Amino acid sequence: MAKIKAALLGYGTVGQGVYTALKTHRQRLKGLLGEEVEIVGVLIKDPHKRRDIDSNIFITTEFKDILKIPGLQVIFEAIVGEEPGYTYLRRAIEKGIQVITANKVMFARYGKELLQKGKEYDVSVRYEATTAGGVPIIRTLKQILQVNKIERIQGILNGTSNFILTEMRNNEISFDEALKLAQRNGYAEENPTSDISGKDAFCKTMILSELAFGKQPIWSEVELQGITAITSEQVKQASQRNLKYKHIADIYQENGDLKASVKPILIEESHPLYSVDGVDNAITVEASLLGRFTLIGPGAGKLPTASAMVEDLADIYTVKNRQLQLSI
Ligand SMILES: NC(=O)c1ccc[n+]([C@@H]2O[C@H](COP(=O)([O-])OP(=O)(O)OC[C@H]3O[C@@H](n4cnc5c(N)ncnc54)[C@H](OP(=O)(O)O)[C@@H]3O)[C@@H](O)[C@H]2O)c1
Repeated sequence: MAKIKAALLGYGTVGQGVYTALKTHRQRLKGLLGEEVEIVGVLIKDPHKRRDIDSNIFITTEFKDILKIPGLQVIFEAIVGEEPGYTYLRRAIEKGIQVITANKVMFARYGKELLQKGKEYDVSVRYEATTAGGVPIIRTLKQILQVNKIERIQGILNGTSNFILTEMRNNEISFDEALKLAQRNGYAEENPTSDISGKDAFCKTMILSELAFGKQPIWSEVELQGITAITSEQVKQASQRNLKYKHIADIYQENGDLKASVKPILIEESHPLYSVDGVDNAITVEASLLGRFTLIGPGAGKLPTASAMVEDLADIYTVKNRQLQLSI
């Protein structure tokens, strides 16, 4: 039987999640797609790390060797930073390989170019995992955008910040104590800068903006603040007034201009994001016909993120199979 040959770029939290998901859901995917999905190559950076990867899978530090794999059809990209991810995916598309990425830093900057290149080469470029991890916000927006216009998006897009603010409020602890707790629980990296400075949420905001409004605001004009300046005294006072600090990404049009901010704000109980606590992410969308709705769920983590990537794969091949049936 023919197989869908796939390669993983990166074998960290997300890469391992995709590897596991493809193994544990092998039969389900085979039933859906009519073909097995086989991982044939893995790109990593450090050749000396010990890895739990089947011995028949090709492991390399050289991307050019991944591109040489005969019949390679799909690449899952889960490495970090704008480069070399962008260059790797561009080259993959030029070879007709479908690409699925989780790399928000790269996609916020180069998503538009990659999607354009994908169109040129008739290749799918999927990025559900870049924004709010397992929460299916990208596919939901694509679906409703067929008819609706998006008027506003507000989101809690960083689980680490949300966890810290929740702990500061519920347990009356300082920012530093809450951050340490997040690190002990595995919700924050050893270097948490990208989460607590708001940069991680900023990248996701730009990706949502491009999809929902067809453009991004000028990056330097977006008001960007993290949560590091919020004190336990401020949280306590807010709590006494039944208000909560939430780190919120906000995008909307005003007089034809796109406005965006990514910063902590005080919200009331009536706000749809008020009850979203802990590491969850949530996105509230206001759409012209549908009105307002909110999606809530795990915004990161090995399996939720892998779920988004494997769902992208399933989408690509179910659409392809449908097109094939129509052409017969
Ligand atoms: N973690 C999450 O929950 C989550 C959720 C959504 C999106 N993401 C995004 O997914 C991507 C991966 O995140 P992660 O948490 O899995 O990161 P990670 O645990 O740090 O793993 C990164 C992997 O990429 C490899 N790598 C890094 N630079 C490379 C290079 N230049 N060439 C080849 N391989 C390289 C590393 O190789 P070595 O193993 O050799 O070091 C490692 O296997 C990031 O872009 C992140 O923003 C993560």
